[in-house]
Amino acid sequence: MTAAGRHVLITGASRGIGAALARVYAAPGVRLSLAGRDSGALEGVAAAARSAGAEVTAAVLDVRDAAAVAEWIDAADAERPLDLAVANAGVNRPDDPFGAAPDNLRLVLETNVLGAAHVVTACVPKMTARGRGQLGLMSSLAGITGFGGMASYGASKAAIRAYGQALRGELGRRGVKVSVICPGFVDTEMAAQVQGTRMGEWSAERAARFIAKGLAKNRGLIAFPPLEALGVRLLTVLPGVLMDPIGRGFRYRVDERG
Ligand SMILES: NC(=O)c1ccc[n+]([C@@H]2O[C@H](COP(=O)([O-])OP(=O)(O)OC[C@H]3O[C@@H](n4cnc5c(N)ncnc54)[C@H](OP(=O)(O)O)[C@@H]3O)[C@@H](O)[C@H]2O)c1
Repeated sequence: MTAAGRHVLITGASRGIGAALARVYAAPGVRLSLAGRDSGALEGVAAAARSAGAEVTAAVLDVRDAAAVAEWIDAADAERPLDLAVANAGVNRPDDPFGAAPDNLRLVLETNVLGAAHVVTACVPKMTARGRGQLGLMSSLAGITGFGGMASYGASKAAIRAYGQALRGELGRRGVKVSVICPGFVDTEMAAQVQGTRMGEWSAERAARFIAKGLAKNRGLIAFPPLEALGVRLLTVLPGVLMDPIGRGFRYRVDERG
């Protein structure tokens, strides 16, 4: 899963799944470039990764800032060519079913879609020029089919899934691997915002190990937990008459972040 000499870049590494990924990849000889906005939390993750033997740089930045992301990635890649970039940073915010939350929709799309695209667009010219590299894009099972109460979030995750699946074909021909990651519920601060039945919730550590294995195998879609992933995919092929009542059963409420 880890190999000496690799350079792995992760956004949203200050907590949750991104921090767990940093712990999974941290090993002697590995270089980690980590980013988040909370400098204290990010430094804690970086310090733990250094203790595990990795060489780590930590950058405080907002993924919505394309110039900051590009500058960070240029500098990281100049230090050692990037082998893997995981565009993991993301947010969830409450929906208003009467459409009165356009600011939340904008924030979620700008962070989850544009923020990930900023990572991709900074990495692609470098990776394609070398004819090697790998991108992991964080979607969600909620990006495979929409769930009540998570319209904005689901829209952002469906967008990033389609974006990544399209890029996999385009970039694969040029030696760059692209994987779309679709977790179900993972026990993080983001999941704690979601009120409703969080079926089959995994720990962040388990999720990170599964993601790293999927990336190592260059899987196009890394979806989990397996049963929930299968269920969500089946929902997309059901006729509307069956899908509608089942879909109505999945209702969530997303709280504001404390
Ligand atoms: N947890 C789940 O159940 C679940 C399920 C499916 C998919 N996912 C996806 O997995 C990814 C990680 O989620 P998580 O559960 O680990 O959430 P989390 O614990 O809330 O962590 C989110 C990470 O994203 C960073 N982030 C958010 N907005 C940012 C911005 N504008 N600029 C830079 N960094 C930003 C946060 O950094 P700061 O806190 O430092 O700002 C934090 O490190 C997200 O894309 C999420 O949508 C999560």
